[in-house]
Amino acid sequence: MVVKNVCCIGAGYVGGPTCSVIAWKCPDIQVHVVDKSEMRIKQWNSDKLPIYEPDLEDVVRECRGRNLFFTNNIEAAIKAADLIFISVNTPTKTYGIGKGRAADLKHIEMCARTIAEVSEGNKIVVEKSTVPVRAAESITHILSANTKPGVSFQILSNPEFLAEGTAIDNLLNPDRVLIGGEESEAGAAAVAELTWIYNHWVPPERIITTSTWSSELSKLASNAFLAQRVSSINAISALCEATGADVTQVASAVGKDSRIGSKFLTASVGFGGSCFQKDLLNLVYIAECLNLPEVAMYWQQVTDMNVYQRTRFAKRIVECLFNTVADKSLAVFGFAFKKNTGDTRESPAKYVCSHLLEEGARLNIYDPKVEKIQIEHDLTCPTLTNEPERVKKLIEIFDDPYEAVRDAHAIVVLTEWDEFKKFDYKRMHEVMKKPAFVFDGRKILDHKALIKLGFHTETIGKRFTRNSLLRSSGEHFPAFAWTP
Ligand SMILES: NC(=O)c1ccc[n+]([C@@H]2O[C@H](COP(=O)([O-])OP(=O)(O)OC[C@H]3O[C@@H](n4cnc5c(N)ncnc54)[C@H](O)[C@@H]3O)[C@@H](O)[C@H]2O)c1
Repeated sequence: MVVKNVCCIGAGYVGGPTCSVIAWKCPDIQVHVVDKSEMRIKQWNSDKLPIYEPDLEDVVRECRGRNLFFTNNIEAAIKAADLIFISVNTPTKTYGIGKGRAADLKHIEMCARTIAEVSEGNKIVVEKSTVPVRAAESITHILSANTKPGVSFQILSNPEFLAEGTAIDNLLNPDRVLIGGEESEAGAAAVAELTWIYNHWVPPERIITTSTWSSELSKLASNAFLAQRVSSINAISALCEATGADVTQVASAVGKDSRIGSKFLTASVGFGGSCFQKDLLNLVYIAECLNLPEVAMYWQQVTDMNVYQRTRFAKRIVECLFNTVADKSLAVFGFAFKKNTGDTRESPAKYVCSHLLEEGARLNIYDPKVEKIQIEHDLTCPTLTNEPERVKKLIEIFDDPYEAVRDAHAIVVLTEWDEFKKFDYKRMHEVMKKPAFVFDGRKILDHKALIKLGFHTETIGKRFTRNSLLRSSGEHFPAFAWTP
């Protein structure tokens, strides 16, 4: 078989960009991205795509209608395809056994059943969603129990490593493409087909092949390691604040060790996104089910540290604002879980805002990409509050950051958008209540400059002391500054 027709089930943050890049790099392949959501498909076929990713629009514009199609006609696309990616969501279970920890595989199972029902001929089914180890076994089981005569399936694991905000670059220049397959002649042939697709633009040495189970576990392990680095440096940031060390200097010194490396060592208000927390919890659950409690506890601590970090930051805001934020306006800069995306899933901003709202703060929220309706939905959803009407009255969403800070007591930076660095903070300081505070949860602003402007400045992993500031600015230090 030479793959001529690809179908991708799930037109989300993974399916959309991944298949757009495949269509772009493989003009000889027809790519159909399908989804059960009519709204999502409509948006993919419109000028305003359902997700924001740098450069995505250009890729889609080039290929859509040529060899890239977005459609709700799931069955027809599956029937026509030689190779089917499953890129549906695998969220944390919210019910039953494993609630709050295990991955919910109901969407994956639904895909497997639909594939079995409508397929004719030979198909390669590729698990791209992040799944627990041995999920491919369940897919194989469902497919083989429902296979019609003349139909055969090969199941591969090909987890996606893209990061939102840099998805197109990650897809075009991946550190590695991982393909796991059955250790048999038919398995090797299927791996070769998928390798052939990636070979259109990925150098062969970056394409790794493993057993299916190793491939599945490698994805969970990669996310766990990444999250662990964030939690490790965040744990050190708490020590820095308590001792007078500066986490940026510590991270730089630690990262110079080539065995450790410098990436992913920026202390912050915590990690977010749809994957880290979900995949960690899934790993913990798997370890528990396999009677490996020490392993489970080890990885559980990584997510516990993340919760601690964002709670600690929210508490520090309240503390610095004289132990009360009730009825005070705070300008929140950033609501997405990271820059260059409009995605708010598990965004630390949600949790910090929720703590502040519980304390009675009024929040003026500005984010360059997150829609107003999304912010309102997130902050009033039942997992965050049982008082949605009260919350609605306390939040206001702004299109203009300069309006958001008017009469505010503080600016709270929760996403590392580049544009925040370029704001005119002098102008902002003038219209804010005094003393005016900045809480930089992402360590992106010029703190010395803010202090010079008269802001009381707080950030993660560093305390600004009267002495060090007097030395660095040579100017009078505001009376409200923190001193040890
Ligand atoms: N978002 C990321 O950065 C990222 C990175 C790597 C891996 N992953 C993994 O990739 C998978 C997909 O993630 P995502 O962020 O793209 O999710 P998403 O929620 O953005 O998209 C999933 C899509 O699948 C559709 N869907 C669900 N069941 C369906 C069905 N039976 N038929 C047709 N469509 C169906 C949904 O309507 C939705 O549009 C998850 O397992 C995730 O863990 C995500």
